[in-house]
Parts: sequence; structure tokens; C-alpha cells
Amino acid sequence: MIQVLILLLLQQAEKVSAAWSVTFENPDICALRGSSVEIRCSYSYPDEESVRGTAWDRGMNQNGVWERVRLSGLPSYNGRFEYQGDHAHNCSLVLRDLQENDTGYYYFWFDTDKFGRRSKTSVFLSVTGLRATVRPDRVRLGDSVTLDCQTECQNGKIIWFRDGRPVAEPTFQAQTTDTGNYSCAFEGLKSSQSDPVALDVWYPPLNVSVEVNRSDPLLVGSSVTLTCRGSASPAAITYTWWYSSDVSNSSTELQVGSGQVLSISSVELAHTGTYICQAQNRAGQSRSAELLLAVEETVHPLIVLGIGIKVIILLVLPPILIWVWKCRSRPHATNEENTSNDYENGIFG
Ligand SMILES: *[C@@H]1O[C@H](CO)[C@@H](O)[C@H](O)[C@H]1NC(C)=O
Ligand SMILES: *[C@@H]1O[C@H](CO)[C@@H](O)[C@H](O)[C@H]1NC(C)=O
Ligand SMILES: *[C@@H]1O[C@H](CO)[C@@H](O)[C@H](O)[C@H]1NC(C)=O
Ligand SMILES: *[C@@H]1O[C@H](CO)[C@@H](O)[C@H](O)[C@H]1NC(C)=O
Ligand SMILES: *[C@@H]1O[C@H](CO)[C@@H](O)[C@H](O)[C@H]1NC(C)=O
Ligand SMILES: *[C@@H]1O[C@H](CO)[C@@H](O)[C@H](O)[C@H]1NC(C)=O
Repeated sequence: MIQVLILLLLQQAEKVSAAWSVTFENPDICALRGSSVEIRCSYSYPDEESVRGTAWDRGMNQNGVWERVRLSGLPSYNGRFEYQGDHAHNCSLVLRDLQENDTGYYYFWFDTDKFGRRSKTSVFLSVTGLRATVRPDRVRLGDSVTLDCQTECQNGKIIWFRDGRPVAEPTFQAQTTDTGNYSCAFEGLKSSQSDPVALDVWYPPLNVSVEVNRSDPLLVGSSVTLTCRGSASPAAITYTWWYSSDVSNSSTELQVGSGQVLSISSVELAHTGTYICQAQNRAGQSRSAELLLAVEETVHPLIVLGIGIKVIILLVLPPILIWVWKCRSRPHATNEENTSNDYENGIFG
């Protein structure tokens, strides 16, 4: 008899607890930092009850005591949660702009005419970021690079960005343009992007060339500036200048300078020859093509004038002298004696 009574009581209790219940569709939710999550929830109670109020709580350890704290009383949830349920049987909650420290246990609470009930079970929400890694993070041109995106949540397809622009493949051979900051995200969820990680592609100076600011022809005494250009990573380049007077024999090369710019303030004929710029960084070195400088002798305006005068003198003077001599030779014959007299007078007079 007592046994039957206990059985009846147990059945009754089961009935009551079945009538009072909160059910979470997914009690273990993984979500990404920056994303939103909907905690789908339904609740039930005896038909004769009616719901007065609802609330969501978060389990928190306060001074060593585990407590349920209203989300509405927590400033860090301000404006980030929204009750999507009702006063009937839907108790869904939306949390937005998730932070890592939103990770924890969440409970539903509701109040009826007779009782305030809280969910026995809870939802565990785990908020996690994506962690991007680039292996290796420093490579040389042509080396293989692998991008890896880690997360506790398996929420879909991972996509990659380099400095905000989409990356086609997570595995590639490093090119000069691959240097940059990489981050990963789930497709369609750019707000959950991982922190960026850097990839540094090292390469020796490329496209090394010499730029010359001369005006042709390059005359003795003028100034000329040679500038070495090229791109490299790391960008710190040291430059060396080589000169050869013998175009066909490269073993006659001489080092004539260092630094990006080679200036000759007053060129001489001896500066004629080929010039090469050698650029070097920590990844290697390369040389420019040969640049030929041909210095030409100056033809000074005064010299031009001098030659002109000489030509004029040589061409014009002889006929004049001949004419003058002819003119003077006629009276000369008649005055010959006088002249000689004068001469004698001059000496003795
Ligand atoms: C509760 O209502 C929300 C918003 O109307 C809806 O999206 C959700 O599917 C409902 N949840 C359940 C468990 O019925
Ligand atoms: C969570 O972190 C944010 C900043 O990232 C902070 O403002 C907020 O107070 C934290 N919330 C809790 C509950 O510690
Ligand atoms: C990558 O990020 C670092 C630090 O934020 C920055 O100094 C660097 O310029 C970035 N690199 C590129 C290629 O944008
Ligand atoms: C070298 O020059 C080529 C052709 O102009 C160009 O496509 C390439 O980007 C340059 N390389 C570097 C590292 O600047
Ligand atoms: C080349 O540059 C040097 C130094 O800047 C300058 O003195 C010279 O006049 C320039 N020559 C030409 C042809 O531009
Ligand atoms: C190149 O110049 C070097 C040094 O002046 C000399 O020893 C060598 O014989 C020359 N080679 C040729 C092919 O002219």
C-alpha cells in the first residue's frame, strides 16, 4: 500500500516536472568573436498558469559564490542582447557582437501567477576567435607558404585576406607581391576576422638599373649624376659602382664609388667607359646592365672665334699685302734717290 502511494507521488512529481520545463535546442554553442548567436529555447508550464515575466541570466562566480546574474543588470551586455521569445512557449535569445569573455553558462527564468521558475539546465556558450598562422613567416622567393586558420568552432568555409584583399589559395609559392598581413575569416562572416599575421618575402634587388641625368653630348667639364634604382626586400640596399674603360675586358673593372648616387661634378675624357651599379641586400645581390658614358672634347666659343680670325687673316691678308706693295712700288722708283738720301741723312744728319 505504501509502495503504491510512493509510486503515485513519483508519477505526480514527474508529471509536474514535465509540465514545468525549459528546453534548449542546442545546449552547447560555439560562436565566433564579433558574430551574433541565437540561443533557441522553448518552455512549458501547466495550462492553467499564465506567464508574468521572463529573463535571461548568466552564471557568474561572484566572490567565490556561483550565482545567476540578470543580463539586464550587466553593463557589458548593454544593447547586445535581445529577447526574441514571448510569454507563451518561445524563450529564444539573441546575443550580438560576441566577446571572448561572453563564454559561459546562460539560464532562462520565467515567472507565473504561482511560481518563479528557472531552467535547471543551461546553455554553454563558447566564444572564440580565429587564429591565423603563416608557415614559415619569413621566406625567400619561390619558397612554399602555408596559411593555417585555427578555431574551436567548425562553422563553414575559411577564406583568407592579404591586407584586406582576398587570397586565392592557402598554399602558394612566394612571390614578391605576397609580402603583407594575412587574416582568415569564415565566408560570409567578415566581422569575425582573425588578428593579422605577417608574411615577409625576402628577395635580392630586382630590376636594378642606372638612371643618368645627362644631356647629350656629355662634354668635358659638365656634371653628371648616375642614380641606381631597384626594389628589394628587406628594402635596405647597399650600392657599389664599377667602372671599366675597356668595354670588352670586364677584368679591368674598378670600384669607383658607393651609395645610391654617383656624382661626377666635372667630367674629363678619362671618365669615358662603362658603368655598372651593384645592389645588395641581406637576400643577395644583382647588377645593373652596363651604362656607356662617352665624354666629348669641349669646343669653346673663343677657340671657334680664334680659328675664324686665323682663317680670315690667311685668306684675306695676302691679296691686300700684294695690292699695297704694288701701289707703293710705282712712286718708289722715282723717289729712290731721295729715299736713300733721307736714309743717309737719317744716319748722319
Ligand atoms: C522563437 O521566435 C523567434 C523569433 O520570432 C524565432 O526565430 C524562433 O525560431 C522561435 N524559436 C522557437 C524555438 O520556436
Ligand atoms: C569583456 O571584455 C570587454 C572588453 O573586451 C569589457 O568591456 C567587458 O567589461 C568584459 N566583460 C566582462 C563580463 O568581464
Ligand atoms: C603589417 O602590419 C604591421 C603592424 O600592424 C605594419 O607595420 C605593416 O606595415 C603591415 N604590412 C603591410 C604590408 O601592410
Ligand atoms: C620588375 O619589373 C617588372 C616589369 O616592369 C615588374 O612587373 C615587376 O613587378 C618588377 N619587380 C619588382 C620587384 O619591382
Ligand atoms: C645632373 O645632376 C647634377 C646634380 O644634381 C646637376 O648638377 C646637373 O646639372 C644635372 N645635369 C643635367 C643634365 O640635368
Ligand atoms: C684584361 O685586362 C687584364 C688586366 O689589365 C689583363 O691582364 C688581361 O690580359 C686582359 N684580357 C683581355 C682578354 O684583354
